[in-house]
Amino acid sequence: MTEPFSFRYQLSSMAKERLDPSEIGVMGKLCAQNKAISLTAGEPSADIYPIDELKRAFASIFDDTSLLEYSKDDYGLLRLREWITDRMKKDGMAPEWVTPKNILLTNGAGEAIELVAETLIDPGCTVLVEAPTFTETLLTFRKQGANCIGVPADDDGIIPEEFENIVKQRSVRFLYTIPNFQNPTGRTSPVERRVKILEIASRYDIPIFEDDPYHYLSYDGKAPETYLSLAGGDKRVLHSNSFSKLVAPGMRCGWLVVPEAIIPHLNAFRISAGLTRPAILQQGLFNYLSATDFEARVAFLCDTYRVRRNGMADAIAKYLKPLGIKTNYPKGGFFLWGDASSTGIDDIAAFARFAVENKKVAIVPGKAFFPRDEAERGRSSFRISFAKVDPATAMEGVKRLSEAFREYKK
Ligand SMILES: Cc1ncc(COP(=O)(O)O)c(C=O)c1O
Repeated sequence: MTEPFSFRYQLSSMAKERLDPSEIGVMGKLCAQNKAISLTAGEPSADIYPIDELKRAFASIFDDTSLLEYSKDDYGLLRLREWITDRMKKDGMAPEWVTPKNILLTNGAGEAIELVAETLIDPGCTVLVEAPTFTETLLTFRKQGANCIGVPADDDGIIPEEFENIVKQRSVRFLYTIPNFQNPTGRTSPVERRVKILEIASRYDIPIFEDDPYHYLSYDGKAPETYLSLAGGDKRVLHSNSFSKLVAPGMRCGWLVVPEAIIPHLNAFRISAGLTRPAILQQGLFNYLSATDFEARVAFLCDTYRVRRNGMADAIAKYLKPLGIKTNYPKGGFFLWGDASSTGIDDIAAFARFAVENKKVAIVPGKAFFPRDEAERGRSSFRISFAKVDPATAMEGVKRLSEAFREYKK
């Protein structure tokens, strides 16, 4: 018998590298193996999917056989793009110039990020991101050859002076930011910060890529105005968004709002990566949205997650604060960020393994969220998700975490 072909010599270097599991994947597996309480999940909990409404929305989906063909709607189902345009205008998220022609439907915001990377990144160019930022975006930008640099941020997001210091010294392709309830920190940039960042971006002629999937999950009042809207007719902002957190991530439906100048380029990559996107899903989603009181749905989600956020904050105040561990208090989204430097821990990944194996509680180590060369910046920090955690579980999980901090030998 001959050996099966191994592909050993054909694999790209990125393909080999991607096989290295990310810290998020490692912690997810360890969490399941140890039957631990998970404070790691970055997705909605199954109990809040609108199952009955989705069943109704998809019941008549095969009545229109044209949905089974290659879609004729170039940028995705027109009706859904119209719905998105109306919604964004109603909610003050999009400026005057945005029409359905500026909307591209994607397989989740993840594909939107991929398309922007393919369209704007050349190998070796510099892309600025928040430090820390969404791990998958870092991988996607790096795959395209970008040199990602993390701009220092505080609890109000990117620090404008730090942003300017970097762009003064080097040429930058674009700035990627998650301005609301950021993944992984839960931070939100106030409008004044956004205005300053935009002003600097305009002075140095840099576009901004705003990734805003947590926009509507705002628990203490409305999210600040989007970069897209603040930039008005300037059109230097690309905006990605998603139905993953509003309906269900399995729908794989997101969107990009982009000015005319680059939409044909983005769409060309979109076609080459999969021709069209599933019209059946887009129509089912549209049926669901048309039959739903969207504001009531958002209010329900916010009420649910607010209870979880508050439960987690109470648990942290009770068990982590007395240990000197600092955490922030997010106004929305799924995450909060912890800093354990006061405990002397400088390898939080090792601590996280200890906690999951010995105390049966899982967190994600901070270094997963920094550009590869800057991973050291996350050596004492960690992400906690409260998305799937009810207050009683939060109390138990954080109690276990505090025991782990007390018992861990550095
Ligand atoms: C900041 C950010 N952008 C994009 C995504 C991808 O979302 P989607 O499911 O729409 O691809 C996520 C998912 O967690 C995220 O946190």
